[in-house]
Amino acid sequence: MKFKLAKLELQLIKGDISAQTDIEAVVNAANAQLKTGGGVAGAIHRAAGPELEEACRDLAPIQVGEAVITSAFKLPNQYVIHTLGPVYGEDKPEAELLARCYQNSLHLVEECQLKSVAFPAISTGAFAYPIKEAAQISLKTIKEMAADLKKIKLIRFVLYSSKDLEVYKNEAKKILKK
Ligand code: APR
Repeated sequence: MKFKLAKLELQLIKGDISAQTDIEAVVNAANAQLKTGGGVAGAIHRAAGPELEEACRDLAPIQVGEAVITSAFKLPNQYVIHTLGPVYGEDKPEAELLARCYQNSLHLVEECQLKSVAFPAISTGAFAYPIKEAAQISLKTIKEMAADLKKIKLIRFVLYSSKDLEVYKNEAKKILKK
């Protein structure tokens, strides 16, 4: 499903964040130490190879809501943006912290003048953020920022299950008014 937001296209697809061959930067749902892990972090580090952890060493630890950028090594992308989402029920205010992950990731996209970025649903796996709330926050944040994003042409959400994709589609229809 596709939406037009200011000058950019927002896509919602089901897939694997580590297999986005036509995207310049993929976003990692990282841990504070920027090491490999389960879920998204595991998939990204496995596909990028051990050089990614090496490149992350000097940048860690990061704070909740912060984002940093590295090369993507063996991934089919140029960059990985690593952001640390809030643990639901623990890191407060969680909605603001989750919004900051998207804001800071998109600031890096602008600074580096990238044309395309793919996000997973940050915090909705091991960090237990409910998918519907997380979808609302991420879509609203991007909608608010869209007019100020000058270079980027494509933002893609890569959802891992059909159920999560459906939730995103429903929220996007309401929030992005299609
Ligand atoms: N591609 C896209 N989405 C994925 C993939 C993948 N390969 N693998 C998992 N997902 C989905 C999950 O289903 C979930 O909806 O991404 C979302 C985020 O899940 P996590 O990767 O668990 O991220 P998060 O909830 O932010 O937790 C981060 O998990 O792996 C550890 O080290 C990591 O401590 C950190 C924590």
